[in-house]
Amino acid sequence: MAAPVLEVSHLTKKYPKLTALEDVSVSIDAGEIFALLGPNGAGKTTLIGAICGLVRKTSGSIKLLGVDLDHDAITPRRDVGLVPQEINFDPFFSVRESLDLQLGYFGRPPDRARVDELLEALSLTSKADQPTRALSGGMKRRLLIAKALVHRPKLVFLDEPTAGVDVELRRDLWTYVRKLRSEGTTVVLTTHYLEEAEELADRVGIIDKGKLLLLEEKKALMKRLGERRLEVKLRDPVATIPDGASAGTLSDDRRTYVFVERAGTPSCADVLGALYAAHLPVAEVSMAPSKLEDVLIRVLRGNGGVS
Ligand SMILES: Nc1ncnc2c1ncn2[C@@H]1O[C@H](COP(=O)(O)OP(=O)(O)OP(=O)(O)O)[C@@H](O)[C@H]1O
Ligand SMILES: [Mg+2]
Repeated sequence: MAAPVLEVSHLTKKYPKLTALEDVSVSIDAGEIFALLGPNGAGKTTLIGAICGLVRKTSGSIKLLGVDLDHDAITPRRDVGLVPQEINFDPFFSVRESLDLQLGYFGRPPDRARVDELLEALSLTSKADQPTRALSGGMKRRLLIAKALVHRPKLVFLDEPTAGVDVELRRDLWTYVRKLRSEGTTVVLTTHYLEEAEELADRVGIIDKGKLLLLEEKKALMKRLGERRLEVKLRDPVATIPDGASAGTLSDDRRTYVFVERAGTPSCADVLGALYAAHLPVAEVSMAPSKLEDVLIRVLRGNGGVS
């Protein structure tokens, strides 16, 4: 198997009054979309900063594209792109100039075709010659994304890439991130829009107070901690529920039956089968899966980490 694109081992970052990262270890494979989730102040930006050279680690090691950053902090970072959480560009350059400059910073030759492609993909073509200070907030964020990608990095960090961005652009970005992955780019994403992580991520890491609480494939996580809620409306009130459906409850008026499936047994199908077998007067059935959001809340409350 190919070596991981990123290997963080026992990384700790201490500020004088606070430990922002505590013994964090994570390994990211080529071509995956990894979502780093956690509340404000959890340590997400600090972790990205330590990898990208914006934060000095206290201890631990970081291997980027197979190179330990303690041995060479410059070469591997040339293949990394970062969309920072804070907007930070020189307001006097035009959109196109700031992309041209970015290529230069990364030691790449001018590449008009690449710049045009990104301007187009991020709907900035009509703004190409405007000074960046004349962009709206959402446009500035798009330019940040273009800047992070212009040198075709192998690994991209998107730190809240869609904060303050409208829904339509957010969807365009999701499409673009998927395209990046299909081209083999590895993406690490932080977001407070859990819908975004649910949509894009292959794997999820949950961090809180500097500690990584959980690291898991999204699908496995949803299966392990996700719940499904089954609600059955009955035409007439019923006196009792059959044995096979005893894991659920009847409403006070005895006309609504609710069951929550956790980790598969019994399943919604089992319970529903028991209701039908007992000839209950079923009028309407609805089922809703839980969202990544519910799973995150459960993990942060301390019931859901890997034992
Ligand atoms: N330069 C600094 N000096 C002292 N403490 C800092 C510094 N930078 C960050 N911190 C603290 O480190 C902790 C982690 O911050 P970080 O920015 O990594 O959180 P985050 O998970 O990115 O949060 P958010 O979701 O709000 O972006 C916070 O408690 C923050 O106040
Ligand atoms: Mg942050």
